[in-house]
Amino acid sequence: MPLRTLSEVLAKAEVGGYGVGAFNVSDLNQAAAVMKAARSERSPVIVQAIAGMHPYEDEGWWWDRLRELVASYPDVEAALHLDHGRTFDDCVRAIDHGFTSVMIDASRRVEDDEPSTLEENIAATARVVEHAHARGVSVEGELGTIGGAEAGVSGTVEEIVFADPDAAADFVEHTGVDALAVAVGTSHGAVKFTTAEAGQRLRIPLIESIKARLPDTYLVLHGSSSIPADAVRTINAHGGRLDESYGVSTEQKQEGIAHGIRKINQGTDSHLTWTAAIREFLDAQRSVVEPSEAQGVAMRAMSGVVAQRMREFGSSGAGA
Ligand code: 13P
Repeated sequence: MPLRTLSEVLAKAEVGGYGVGAFNVSDLNQAAAVMKAARSERSPVIVQAIAGMHPYEDEGWWWDRLRELVASYPDVEAALHLDHGRTFDDCVRAIDHGFTSVMIDASRRVEDDEPSTLEENIAATARVVEHAHARGVSVEGELGTIGGAEAGVSGTVEEIVFADPDAAADFVEHTGVDALAVAVGTSHGAVKFTTAEAGQRLRIPLIESIKARLPDTYLVLHGSSSIPADAVRTINAHGGRLDESYGVSTEQKQEGIAHGIRKINQGTDSHLTWTAAIREFLDAQRSVVEPSEAQGVAMRAMSGVVAQRMREFGSSGAGA
């Protein structure tokens, strides 16, 4: 099965009423872990990478290998997506390397990282849409600014600028994006909310009113990791130093899906699970130096959390 576009994967999710996980990967082992989970769950999947975030010298080489790896699971319905492209050039390069979907995040200016005006955001996004659609590639845009820390994304939880339904309708009409990341209360990274209550602050009525204005646009929830407390505890028990933090609960995500969220971005949960598994293994196996066993432990742990998310989002069993 050739790689799917984001629109193809999300059109099925819209009909089926489920969410599709978009899992960030920054190396081939992580990508294999995500694809293994998708295969075992018979779930559609979005594999996403951020420009500049990988350990390889040559990004084009990495993106080619990533595309080949995803395509080597012909039984899995998968889209390959550029997460948080900051510039037109980022998006063009990803398309040239075979990505089937790109996000142009023009919600902040590249020059000074300040929030863009709606007009600036529309102009930058429309340019990417024109280029991508001519090549059969889907586009995700972002409206409002989602706080937190991610490569290419800055700001704090306090800096979330919520999406506005009227501006969302304007934005989609003038850009033609297929999917829209809406700032509705989540933030990126391992430090999201310092109290459990704050983690419950997904603005469901805002999702509802944006969806009512944009029934044909796929809504995207960024910063959706749950921050599993056991992974944080394990990391800290084996030499790590993570602050207590709360993510987005499974119930909140499911409520978001029930009100129209279709793409759910998750990176931090995979990273926490991976790091916890590696730290625990290396702490217990102090004389092991050959890397494959530790990598295998981490891959299995990451596959486990990704598969769990697929079940929670209702996408398990929905693949081809
Ligand atoms: P998390 O940091 O919650 O995993 O979100 C990732 C994300 O939104 C990537 O775009």
